[in-house]
Amino acid sequence: MKLAVIGCGYVGLVTGSCLAEAGHEVLATDNDAFRIATLQDGKIPIYELHLDSVVETVVREGRLRFTADCAEAVRAADVIFICVGTPPTDSGDADLSAIENVARLIARESSTPKLVVEKSTVPAQTGEQLKRALQVYARNTDVKFHVASNPEFLREGTAVEDFFHPDRIVVGVEDKESEQQLRELYAPILEGRFRCPVHQPNCPPAATPEFVVTTIASAELIKHASNSFLGLKISYANVLADLCERLGGNVDEVTRAVGLDPRIGGQFLKAGLGFGGFCLPKDIQAFIKLADRAGIEFGLLKEAERVNKQRIDRLLEKIKKALWVMKEKQIGVLGIAFKPNTDDIRLAPAIEVIRRLRAEGCVVRATDPEAMTRARVVFPDLSLLVDPYEVARGADALLILTEWEQFRRLDWKRIRNEMARPLVIDGRNMLRTADMQALGFEYMSFGRPEFAPVPSKF
Ligand SMILES: NC(=O)c1ccc[n+]([C@@H]2O[C@H](COP(=O)([O-])OP(=O)(O)OC[C@H]3O[C@@H](n4cnc5c(N)ncnc54)[C@H](O)[C@@H]3O)[C@@H](O)[C@H]2O)c1
Repeated sequence: MKLAVIGCGYVGLVTGSCLAEAGHEVLATDNDAFRIATLQDGKIPIYELHLDSVVETVVREGRLRFTADCAEAVRAADVIFICVGTPPTDSGDADLSAIENVARLIARESSTPKLVVEKSTVPAQTGEQLKRALQVYARNTDVKFHVASNPEFLREGTAVEDFFHPDRIVVGVEDKESEQQLRELYAPILEGRFRCPVHQPNCPPAATPEFVVTTIASAELIKHASNSFLGLKISYANVLADLCERLGGNVDEVTRAVGLDPRIGGQFLKAGLGFGGFCLPKDIQAFIKLADRAGIEFGLLKEAERVNKQRIDRLLEKIKKALWVMKEKQIGVLGIAFKPNTDDIRLAPAIEVIRRLRAEGCVVRATDPEAMTRARVVFPDLSLLVDPYEVARGADALLILTEWEQFRRLDWKRIRNEMARPLVIDGRNMLRTADMQALGFEYMSFGRPEFAPVPSKF
């Protein structure tokens, strides 16, 4: 089976390279010629653990190839994965223009049957529109198109591991033939027939992921419903954090015990600065819009979104309360990416925090292990330093905005000595209050008892 992957971003690159590793022949394309030239040059334009080694291997073995000619990729393929972006419009809807462009290209260039698979996250009923577009723009009306939805659940930072070891593979189809094609395509993943770059020499024993077959509309809904639920959980934990601050509890203790109930589960039940990235915020927005248009009031999600937006206000309140006057205060920022192990800063809370601090007249210095290049594009005049200790030097406050493991392992005693005032505001509840207390920091986080030592000389 020959595959084409259209869109070589996070999802396209992981999908294309992992399916090539699983034994398929993949031609990957993108309308960004520079991106394709970079990939043809052997460089990976994004940071994602293990992706470079998978791509390098499958390119060397001739199963993955990159082309800037999107039409060539369409013509060569039996199965086409659409992996283009679906960013939010100003109104919060999903912008489906890239999907439509790809549909028109496929319709124009196809002269053999194609299974066209939505991998991008799209609102329910996009499959219907996609089918229509393929029909109305088809140059050769004899060509048979099948459409399927195969939502992607990978998480940036562990994307390769997630692709090879999914909890479930969801396919939305409307005929047996498409289901069979997708079953064959994913068989090596389901049966563990691939070289796993994550687990050496062997993957740990695990249950076979479920291959879930649904209608196209259900598959589309499953993706939005999953991401929205994760957002709900995070916002729930964040309201609990606010409550703990008022009532004297410790949100980490509360969420840990709540999450031990298997009906609830501890993942995504962590308080802090809230969620960002290219998926949760935009998918929740798009789901709310979709529900509104269907005449369904999804107030639950609106509230989750409101709580999430408010986290930045809550952090700023903490900073202001501690610093009193903001103008000309030196603020160090640890972490810009929306989460650890990625260089993705799209809708990262840190971006908004930095913007607001600078608007208040603070002097900000920041660092991130992987996201500095992208941050420089957003803030060309921001002081971005590789060394976290330099970021701390002379700072009136140090903010932790992404919970990179590297930050946990810093020499915090040294950090304290570098700072003008040993004040740490931990937006991710990454450090332990007792440890910071022992080191003599003023330490604030979300929903946990605060500690401000009497200033003393060290
Ligand atoms: N990033 C994630 O963690 C993740 C996880 C699951 C699902 N998704 C969904 O997958 C989709 C892609 O996400 P991403 O993070 O990979 O996006 P991305 O922005 O990193 O990549 C999209 C790529 O598509 C290319 N593209 C856009 N229009 C094109 C066109 N007409 N023809 C060819 N190429 C085109 C862009 O140049 C870009 O390289 C989105 O719908 C997203 O919601 C993302």
